[in-house]
Amino acid sequence: MTEVHRKTVLLYEKHGKVATVTLNRPKALNALNTGVLKDLRDALVDAEADADIHVIVLTGAGDRAFCAGADIQELRDKSAIEARDWSLWVQEITSYMERVRKPILAKINGFCLGGGLELAMACDFRIATDKSLFGLPEVNLAIIPGGGGTQRLTRLIGKTKALELLMTGTRIYAEEALRLTLVNTVVPVEALDAAVEAVIKELRTKSAVTLGLLKLAVNNGLEMSLEQALYYEAECFGSALATEDSREGLKAFLDKRKAEFKGK
Ligand code: CAA
Repeated sequence: MTEVHRKTVLLYEKHGKVATVTLNRPKALNALNTGVLKDLRDALVDAEADADIHVIVLTGAGDRAFCAGADIQELRDKSAIEARDWSLWVQEITSYMERVRKPILAKINGFCLGGGLELAMACDFRIATDKSLFGLPEVNLAIIPGGGGTQRLTRLIGKTKALELLMTGTRIYAEEALRLTLVNTVVPVEALDAAVEAVIKELRTKSAVTLGLLKLAVNNGLEMSLEQALYYEAECFGSALATEDSREGLKAFLDKRKAEFKGK
């Protein structure tokens, strides 16, 4: 059964075990205004809480853009204090995406710029078409990324290339983004649905609770010293071993049969 919640600027659909969140301002290349960001936060909270949902897909409406960034119209009139608070709010949303205990896949076709790339970088998978363009062009507006871009780009591709992209505002094609490991996969436009489905199919064979622990181990561990992160990994390992699914996974292996996970 498909459940569709139609909102003006964001579509939120649940089909089977997958929740799809679509940024829905195609005429503005899905630019992020306050309404989109609020609805996005609400949709993610709902998808995380829904025990039936295994995977979340984030995408953009239309065939031109995943998202061309923050709504420049809205940014224009902000004071320094308002801009700082807005930045903290968007950062809270992107950080929340990294804490959601379910895989989030960014399905990218077209422009993926500024705040759009910041959202994509907070996802766990980035699957893009070969027509997609990536960049943090804020410098061209004499501003800087405020949704986590300076930090996540640097963590994902390293300081050398991150500073180059940030300081020149250059847009790069998907193939270059793949080379820099900014995206996982690049496919022709007509193969995008199948590529995303293939990842979903693979993830659905795993225990949802284990996927959540893996996500926490990587994302939280990255912010710790190696020693602390290794200890944290051991704690997550302990939590994994305490799940019903791990009992089933280990037993199924020993019984030489396929495991059946319940996400518990
Ligand atoms: N905010 C608001 N509106 C936007 C927008 C944005 N970020 N990006 C595009 N649009 C609107 C355009 O104003 C235009 O609207 P109208 O038809 O009403 O004029 C419509 O979308 C189509 O855009 P263009 O006519 O510009 O399309 P194009 O094909 O000529 O160019 C583009 C496409 C290169 C992506 C260009 O739109 C562009 O450069 N957009 C801005 C990209 C950008 O600078 N993003 C960073 C924003 S700041 C940010 O994101 C801060 C942060 O860290 C969160």
